[in-house]
Amino acid sequence: MLARKSPEFDDIATNNLSDAYLLEEVAAGRAVFEVDEHAVAVVRPEGWHPDQPASSLWLVYVEPGARRAGHGRALVKRVIVKHVKDYPMVLLCHGEARVRFFRRCGFALDHTTAAGSWMVRMPRKPRRVARPASRPA
Ligand SMILES: CC(C)(COP(=O)(O)OP(=O)(O)OC[C@H]1O[C@@H](n2cnc3c(N)ncnc32)[C@H](O)[C@@H]1OP(=O)(O)O)[C@@H](O)C(=O)NCCC(=O)NCCS
Repeated sequence: MLARKSPEFDDIATNNLSDAYLLEEVAAGRAVFEVDEHAVAVVRPEGWHPDQPASSLWLVYVEPGARRAGHGRALVKRVIVKHVKDYPMVLLCHGEARVRFFRRCGFALDHTTAAGSWMVRMPRKPRRVARPASRPA
């Protein structure tokens, strides 16, 4: 699918991550592809690193001829169900249209920097925190 990208793909290198980097991370098992008939996503799953357990949505790409037909949103929703368990999922994107798209998919704008808009999807249930054993007074 990445090989079938259009020139537009280059405009959307949202995190300044190159194809080569994405492929390398997938090959190394640090990121995974999620694929539909017309769309592909690249996800770094949660828990990939003990110090940084949040997952990242690195890329969503819908074939140009299949856009605005719900494929992007359907894939992102599937990604959320599969990958957002105990920790938030974060992404960095550019432009109001993409912020709107990801809002529609269930992400919220967290903050904006020179690098772009950081968006986050929180897990549905807060992570269970073990309660300290109660002590006798
Ligand atoms: C952004 C992208 C993934 C959207 O996928 P899509 O399949 O066309 O989007 P959907 O049909 O699922 O649309 C979902 C919602 O987002 C909105 N939306 C989609 N594209 C939009 C656009 N360009 N501008 C404004 N809103 C947009 C739709 O209106 C829809 O909301 P609605 O159903 O309430 O009207 C697709 O256009 C794409 O691959 N673009 C190039 C790559 C890219 O920019 N990826 C995102 C950053 S990695």
